[in-house]
Amino acid sequence: MIKKKYNQCYDVSEKNKTYLQTSIKRSKGIFPEMEVAKAHMKILKKYIKKDDAILDAGCLTGHFYRSFLREFKNHNLKYTGIDPWALHINEAKKIWSKDKNVNFKKGWVQKLPFKNNSFDISICSNVLTHIPSIEDPIKELLRVTRKIILIRTPIHKISYRIQMVFNSKWFKFTNVHPKDEFDKKGNPRAFEYFDVHSKDYFESLVKKYEKRARIKFIKDNFYNKKNINLKIEKKQKILSTRVNSEGDQVADLLIIPNHFVLIKK
Ligand SMILES: C[S@@+](CC[C@H](N)C(=O)[O-])C[C@H]1O[C@@H](n2cnc3c(N)ncnc32)[C@H](O)[C@@H]1O
Repeated sequence: MIKKKYNQCYDVSEKNKTYLQTSIKRSKGIFPEMEVAKAHMKILKKYIKKDDAILDAGCLTGHFYRSFLREFKNHNLKYTGIDPWALHINEAKKIWSKDKNVNFKKGWVQKLPFKNNSFDISICSNVLTHIPSIEDPIKELLRVTRKIILIRTPIHKISYRIQMVFNSKWFKFTNVHPKDEFDKKGNPRAFEYFDVHSKDYFESLVKKYEKRARIKFIKDNFYNKKNINLKIEKKQKILSTRVNSEGDQVADLLIIPNHFVLIKK
């Protein structure tokens, strides 16, 4: 049996050091900022005030904080990162131990360990696509945020449920043998969602919990193709995003319709 919480598989993330090493190097400034981190800063520039409290839900080792520090040099932002995995949070705490404005906590975006309106701004980048039900995450982000939520995730006119199925031959952090990838009912044993959500569904969820919220969908055209295609993540051949000749962001065989969803309360 694969251990799961909120129908997310522990096998996929609990011990996966591939993502982790890249994030550590980004947090330390050894690898460059992600294009998506730079895009967040561009969008948030208009809204961030000097002493704002920021939540980064699904923070890995807090590499977005480096971008906040660069963009908002003269601010005094209070940054909190949450992530379900001790592996990520422990490294994050080590890297940022000297910064008094930073706080990391283990937690799931489905049930955020914070009081109502604890943050001025919340971001949640490349996380909701991996979560089977985004209703609680949206409800929770709305609950803990006072002003602005910025979510980066694949959005399209139609929702798609997509699962990547893991086996031990190509993914060393699972014990699932290729012959057991699917059970007799056809359900994958170790998997990760790569869902695409429809604009209509996403909008209806936000409105369900915050009638007066204003929502803007912004297609992610912010990236520099050359920087995305840099081969700094050699070990992540399958998962790392590339830009194809048509200008689409592609991960393995999926075209990812990445958007920013800007929610103003
Ligand atoms: C693809 S990484 C994105 C990291 C970073 N936000 C970025 O955009 O580069 C997904 C992150 O979300 C975290 N995550 C997965 N499930 C989560 C959940 N239920 N709640 C909060 N974070 C989650 C993972 O551990 C990982 O750090």
